[in-house]
Amino acid sequence: MLKRLIYGSQAVEANPTNLRAILAASRTGNPKAGVTGALCLFEGVYMQYLEGDEGAVETLYARIETDARHRTPVVLDRTFIAVRQFPEWSMALLAPDDRIKAIMGLHGLRLPGTTTRDIAPDHAAAFFRALAATPNWMPL
Ligand SMILES: Cc1cc2nc3c(=O)[nH]c(=O)nc-3n(C[C@H](O)[C@H](O)[C@H](O)COP(=O)(O)O)c2cc1C
Repeated sequence: MLKRLIYGSQAVEANPTNLRAILAASRTGNPKAGVTGALCLFEGVYMQYLEGDEGAVETLYARIETDARHRTPVVLDRTFIAVRQFPEWSMALLAPDDRIKAIMGLHGLRLPGTTTRDIAPDHAAAFFRALAATPNWMPL
């Protein structure tokens, strides 16, 4: 069955080298596993959306969870889905501006002090969709 998993984590040394390595691993591994989704980095917080066969998503997440390039990952949403939302893999960086703050506010997050990781589980997928539709979403 198709499943989606969304988590947030605190980035550790989110420098270009690490980002490139994460992107390279994703580009190689995810198509083989039939996993698609998106990853964004915003104010030192990663938020990743993974979707695919349940086993493939859980296997991948078990690997990602223990990666030293981030810490304290929190699963925000883990749900069976009928169709994919991000059929193409992408990795994005979000430039913080008033538009992003407005979207965060709409989903119950107020800056400063809260991060994308504090999103309510039933808002996580819609929040991700809204972010991906902004010009701030810069696929890498
Ligand atoms: C925030 C973050 C997101 C990641 N996303 C993926 C991903 O989508 N796919 C992937 O294969 N690896 C991803 N990785 C890297 C994995 O944790 C792991 O390093 C990689 O899959 C290689 O695993 P291996 O050394 O066991 O082969 C991510 C790492 C981090 C820190």
